[in-house]
Amino acid sequence: MFIYKAGVIGAGTMGSGIAQTISFSGLPVILKDVDMDKVNYGIQLIKKIYQTRVDKGKMSSNEMEQKMALVTGTTSNEDFKECDIIVEAVYENAEVKKKVLTEVEKHIPENAILATNTSALSITELAAAVQHSERVVGMHFFNPPSVMKLVEIIPGLQTSNDVVQDTLTFAESLRKIPVRVKECTGFLVNRLLMPYLNEAAFIAQTGTATILEMDEAMRQFGMPMGPFVLMDLLGLDVCDDVANILYDAYGSRMQPSSLLLEMKQAKCLGVKSKVGFYTYDESKTSKFPEILQKLSQTSPQGVRPFSPVQSLLPMINEAALCLEENIASPMDIDMAMMAGTGFPSEKGGPLHYADQLGLDWVLQQLQLLTKQVGERFWPAPLLKRMVAAGYLGTKTKKGFFNY
Ligand SMILES: NC(=O)c1ccc[n+]([C@@H]2O[C@H](COP(=O)([O-])OP(=O)(O)OC[C@H]3O[C@@H](n4cnc5c(N)ncnc54)[C@H](O)[C@@H]3O)[C@@H](O)[C@H]2O)c1
Repeated sequence: MFIYKAGVIGAGTMGSGIAQTISFSGLPVILKDVDMDKVNYGIQLIKKIYQTRVDKGKMSSNEMEQKMALVTGTTSNEDFKECDIIVEAVYENAEVKKKVLTEVEKHIPENAILATNTSALSITELAAAVQHSERVVGMHFFNPPSVMKLVEIIPGLQTSNDVVQDTLTFAESLRKIPVRVKECTGFLVNRLLMPYLNEAAFIAQTGTATILEMDEAMRQFGMPMGPFVLMDLLGLDVCDDVANILYDAYGSRMQPSSLLLEMKQAKCLGVKSKVGFYTYDESKTSKFPEILQKLSQTSPQGVRPFSPVQSLLPMINEAALCLEENIASPMDIDMAMMAGTGFPSEKGGPLHYADQLGLDWVLQQLQLLTKQVGERFWPAPLLKRMVAAGYLGTKTKKGFFNY
């Protein structure tokens, strides 16, 4: 199916970024929100993205005007009647999303795709709310959508193959890197990223390294930013919510660090509230030192030295569990982590990196940490089987990949 016109619902951070990305590819896009103030706010965000390109000499003012002419705002679902795909990007709340999808379905063409940008809700459950569940698919963009190349495409149980294929093609037409992900809680990238961020928060609680030391070490490792700068950017409320959703689904290995909840309750939400682990406005003061002080009285067991390699072990272990569950191929797992989180390309993603470290070493470290720190490091059964079979990584020329 050709996509000639798209709609986006929710003119916030993601919705406006997605609408900009669509217009940038040359397609007309209609942006909807609950009132015109919110719609206009979203349109201003889009203008800002284009203006930055103009200021950097990447596009002319004329081109910017042409792209902006492709964007229209609305508060009515009736304006979606000619759209071939609608991307929903409203609040991360299942009931709100179900209502939005059900209402818009009444106004769109029979074969139009309903894509949801949910970060962690079940595609299958959202799809079950509408009449034609086969047209609902997860289309998970990353923040900021204008910059981030990765889009996870997640079919629900009922999603038709045509819808998946058309959505993959649509994402490619937006010059993105789509990765097909089998539905699971957190999908692929958040499921792998959160254990790493959560572990950084646990380490901060134990006081073995400061957030500045950890952020600097991970930048030296090659990440575009450290875990605390990233959490501030993602929003500490979002991080705590996602951590809890993962905990609900996977149990003890995903137990959230109380630091995230404390920061959320103290309204230190990161860049969006101008204060999080760091401050982004001179008039604000972060509650982080007090919270750390309070938590140090009940600090989690297992004080250990911090190193970038060790902080990545939960991510590597989760990647092995995803492989066992056929969530994505080894190549797609590495590609998704490079394109979605900036995992350094010279290290090739968490699975290539594990192969370089040696899977026997990775397994041994996980077993040691399970004893010293707790069960969240329990090694993936696949790792044990691979080591037993001599798949140790680059040194034996076979591991997650062949060399
Ligand atoms: N922020 C991120 O980093 C990020 C990344 C990936 C995915 N997501 C997901 O994208 C979605 C949106 O997140 P966001 O950060 O852009 O949120 P946001 O709060 O910035 O924007 C949400 C927008 O949706 C609008 N909205 C709410 N109910 C609506 C309705 N019934 N009809 C029309 N508009 C409505 C709100 O007015 C608001 O403008 C969420 O599902 C989130 O989990 C967020």
